[in-house]
Amino acid sequence: MCGIVGYIGKRDAVPILMEGLQRLEYRGYDSAGAAVVSGGKLAIRKKLGKLRELRNSLEETPLPGGLGIGHTRWATHGQPSEINSHPHADCSGDLCLVHNGIIENYQELKKQLQAEGHDFKSQTDTEIVAHLVEKYYKGDLFAAVQRALLDCEGAYALGVVHKDEPGVLVAARCGSPLIIGVGEGEQFIASDVPAILKQTREVIYLNDGEVAKLTSEGVIVTDLKGNVADKEQVHIDWDAEAAEKAGYPHFMLKEINEQPRVIRDTLRGRIAKSGDNVVLDDMNISDEELKGIEKIIIISCGTAWHAGIVGKYMLEEHTRIPVEVDIASEFRYRNPILVPGKHLVMSVTQSGETADTLASIREAQRQGVKVVSIVNVVGSTIARESDGVIYTQAGPEIGVASTKAYTSQVTAFYLFTIYMGRLNGTISSEKAAKLLAELQTVPGMIEEILKDQDVILECAEAYKEAVSALFLGRSYNFPSALEGALKLKEISYIHAEGYGAGEMKHGPIALVDDKLPVICVAVKSAVYDKMVSNIQEIRARAGKVIAVATRGDEDIHRHADHVISIPQISEMFSPLLVAVPLQLFSYHMAIARGCDVDQPRNLAKSVTVE
Ligand code: AGP
Repeated sequence: MCGIVGYIGKRDAVPILMEGLQRLEYRGYDSAGAAVVSGGKLAIRKKLGKLRELRNSLEETPLPGGLGIGHTRWATHGQPSEINSHPHADCSGDLCLVHNGIIENYQELKKQLQAEGHDFKSQTDTEIVAHLVEKYYKGDLFAAVQRALLDCEGAYALGVVHKDEPGVLVAARCGSPLIIGVGEGEQFIASDVPAILKQTREVIYLNDGEVAKLTSEGVIVTDLKGNVADKEQVHIDWDAEAAEKAGYPHFMLKEINEQPRVIRDTLRGRIAKSGDNVVLDDMNISDEELKGIEKIIIISCGTAWHAGIVGKYMLEEHTRIPVEVDIASEFRYRNPILVPGKHLVMSVTQSGETADTLASIREAQRQGVKVVSIVNVVGSTIARESDGVIYTQAGPEIGVASTKAYTSQVTAFYLFTIYMGRLNGTISSEKAAKLLAELQTVPGMIEEILKDQDVILECAEAYKEAVSALFLGRSYNFPSALEGALKLKEISYIHAEGYGAGEMKHGPIALVDDKLPVICVAVKSAVYDKMVSNIQEIRARAGKVIAVATRGDEDIHRHADHVISIPQISEMFSPLLVAVPLQLFSYHMAIARGCDVDQPRNLAKSVTVE
């Protein structure tokens, strides 16, 4: 999730680029760069680290000129480094570009371009686009970009400039956001509205597959074949802060709504063309070593620990490899039994900086055991110290309460499970194809859930004064209950507990009275009837039951006070859907109670201390 800004007009580009990149700060970054065309020359400046490094450099040694592009990098491929930061140039240094997205077929394109004599400097997928444009450039940058993108598969938002075309800025998008700002004799491009709101409120939204040529006279938009598109100009009346949240009142709500995109991005490029296997680039552990694994130990904290439990259920069901899941702060002090070569440790972490998780992977490596980590922040300490990583592609998660990171972590476990199952033969080609096909329907189902929140709002209003709540689930949705309880307690400050529903009779049922809301995950599954029995036990003691159930299940309405429906899906994938109404329930409860949803009291986004 990088940030892109571009400018063409009579003013100096750099101040406009820097203001815009600053406004995209919430998109996160580990490096930044800019390029300016002036006097027949193309100058590029890139800096590792925070945006201020680039700003200081440009203040010390200015780059004057009225055509420029800028970029803040949130690494998805290739470690954060100056050489990997954008803009990326072609062999000649005559053109360069900035990119947000993932070019899925970059490796085959890179091989082909290298065979044609192109020299590459970086490890990124982005650089291949610069060389492709160079390959097709015959004096018309707009046409060369159109042609180059016909070879590319995957997601991109691009800004492209050429030293010999000082009056032209080319932009393109497919799968990653990019907008055009229209000014008086000047034009802008940006990943998001906040970046250009100080310059103009007149915006053209590019659609997937469109390319734009911006000049001081105006904007032409076409498809990749050059067919002109008729584009509407929109007036933006948001203020800057609202725009960073894309119009949502809180980052948490924005991030809940980003989950369909995040799951698509986490899957992107990782499903083999055959459709019956998974491609995981950065695990850095050979298939031979993975075949020797007799036990997997998952370690993490908080929400990431809940994702690990979901991972346990699916790994054990589909690969028959025994899995232990441990809270990192316990694992690191219990002198764990680890056997090099036979055990694999997996950590799960959004930030990649959680102290207990970091200490745990160091303990594992001290004992000679390989570590693969599911991480969101590329280049974070845990990502760098692990033997291998599976990145979750969720983009920066600003809300302290983890939402999109959780569902992307669970998605990463599905990918890993199918990979391991295909490797050790416990998942057939047909089964893998079926699982992957169903997994790819999840984003659309989450979009459906997001469209209908009436019952969730009704429940939040009904129970906002509750002093306690219980969340119950079984099997794959036992961790869903734990996660739902954590969400509620950390943002609404209501005490909440998640339990395996079968545990009710072993104590928690004593809590049940007519003031206690009990959220029961009762989706169609092998344990559905057991869940209904638990619901009846609660209702018999006047407890208030909110059921998360499968759409079309009419019977559940006889047992529950409220029913939140989700689309029908196999039980193993249901945690991805169940998470969303539970996130929204906690969000609306917290709002009803006037709590600070994005920065709840006492909490930090990343617990880098013990
Ligand atoms: C979840 O909503 C919390 N913010 C917290 O439990 C979090 O999941 C935990 O601190 C782990 O953080 P990590 O994923 O960055 O390691």
